[in-house]
Amino acid sequence: MTDKDDFGPITRNRRRATITSAKSETVKLRNGATAAACDLRSGPKARESLSKNLQINEDNKQKCDRYDKMSCHKLQESMLSSASSFKNYRGILNWCVVMLVLSNARLFLENLLRYGILVDPIQVVSLFLKDPYSWPAACLVIVSNVFILVALYTERKLAMGSFSEKVGLLIYIFNLTIILCFPMVVVLKLPSITPVGGAFSLGVYTILFLKLYSYKDVNRWCRERTRAKARSLSRSLSCPSSPSASSTMQSHVSYPGNLSLRDMYYFVCAPTLCYELNFPRSESIRMGFVFRRLFEMLLLTQLLVGLTQQWIVPVIRSSMKPLQEMDYSRMTERLLRLAVPNHLIWLIFFYWFFHSSMNFVAELLRFGDREFYRDWWNSETITYFWQNWNIPVHKWCLRHFYKPLLRRGAGKLLSQSAVFFASAFFHEYLVSVPLRMVRLWAFMGMMAQLPLAWFVARFLRGNYGNAAVWLSLIIGQPIAVLMYVHDYYVTHCQDDPAIAEANLTVDRGLD
Ligand SMILES: CC(C)(COP(=O)(O)OP(=O)(O)OC[C@H]1O[C@@H](n2cnc3c(N)ncnc32)[C@H](O)[C@@H]1OP(=O)(O)O)[C@@H](O)C(=O)NCCC(=O)NCCS
Repeated sequence: MTDKDDFGPITRNRRRATITSAKSETVKLRNGATAAACDLRSGPKARESLSKNLQINEDNKQKCDRYDKMSCHKLQESMLSSASSFKNYRGILNWCVVMLVLSNARLFLENLLRYGILVDPIQVVSLFLKDPYSWPAACLVIVSNVFILVALYTERKLAMGSFSEKVGLLIYIFNLTIILCFPMVVVLKLPSITPVGGAFSLGVYTILFLKLYSYKDVNRWCRERTRAKARSLSRSLSCPSSPSASSTMQSHVSYPGNLSLRDMYYFVCAPTLCYELNFPRSESIRMGFVFRRLFEMLLLTQLLVGLTQQWIVPVIRSSMKPLQEMDYSRMTERLLRLAVPNHLIWLIFFYWFFHSSMNFVAELLRFGDREFYRDWWNSETITYFWQNWNIPVHKWCLRHFYKPLLRRGAGKLLSQSAVFFASAFFHEYLVSVPLRMVRLWAFMGMMAQLPLAWFVARFLRGNYGNAAVWLSLIIGQPIAVLMYVHDYYVTHCQDDPAIAEANLTVDRGLD
């Protein structure tokens, strides 16, 4: 310690001396170099002195450079401060994924240890069929062909002029009303139809309703155009003004040439709700693409069923008692417990339906427009979410409902409210009728989107807005699910002692 202290000043002095000598040499060199330059023509002695000075100059420059390299600080912000403009958080994203996998692996193990394996693929069949010899949902779907044929027949008569526009409209109103009422009555009255079978057939009829409504509108627009021009259309109503190279190769249909069975069934099967006389078509069917989508569909169906049986059902069963007793703290706990698997299943369903299934059908039909969804996951407002998550429905709403309302002079807010009201009606229809009880939870959930959209747009921006959209999806859906399941249980299963005992067992297991 003493030695070090003693040597300290000496070393410092030496260092100071070295730096001072280096500086003085530089000064000397400059002076010397100038002097030598002045005496350049004085002879070999002067030249020798010049080269010597240059050598010293070079040595000093190297010393100065070495000194400069020793400095290790510069003016800069810390990486995590927003002023640093550092944006690469890839590692943190990976960390999130690792944490997510680990925490879910724990949940998965806990679930397995508590309940054992509950997955039973055969049980899925019983969700659709009560009796293997009676297929009411499938029969209902087959009957829907009658409504398709009525629409086609009406359009043909309208095109020929055998029906006036008024008669055509009346037939359509009748046809479309029956499309919604007939399956509803069958599902409500037929005890052999299961809730899942009922929801499936009502879904098919709802899609058909929207498709035939679009079919009616587009054919009417064609007739109006034909009348206005007083000659047959040379090109399709929907075809782009400057057709692309690929589309010019294909033959274009014009009204009333589109009123054929083939055209009608192509539209009924195509993954769109908006009718066009000439859909964009892909060149060929890519079999590799078809098999990849088919594989995804099969795999994800199994995953959806497995997750529902293993994860959702026990949580829902265990929630019945807290819901009946109105035990708010345990109800909240069960809600949060349900939120994770429910959201996971919703995400898987999104990919299964909007990516795998729709692309599968589109590829088989060579249907060219594959924009079934857009980047709704980046939504910073609720409005953006509804514009981008379900493109077929959004396109239909804009083309056949929202814009016609605006054109008739309705205000923007009124038109938006009307669209959300119609959407709320269909959501309620698709849930309440198969469950055979009207509770309006789905209806209110959809209608709540309007004030929620206003709130998020008004008070939240950027990432906060995005987080609000995610939160509404993660928490909003399980609330509705719990409400319906609870009400269904109270209405249909409460008196069944076996179910009540099973629920209690699961509940005890969780607590
Ligand atoms: C209601 C809804 C249709 C509004 O859509 P939006 O895109 O927010 O509506 P905007 O006001 O931005 O306008 C959309 C279009 O109308 C046009 N428009 C707006 N005001 C107009 C007016 N006064 N007159 C004519 N056109 C008008 C816009 O130019 C725009 O046209 P573009 O599509 O060609 O660009 C949409 O939120 C929606 O689809 N909601 C329901 C979704 C749903 O229920 N989905 C179910 C999924 S399960």
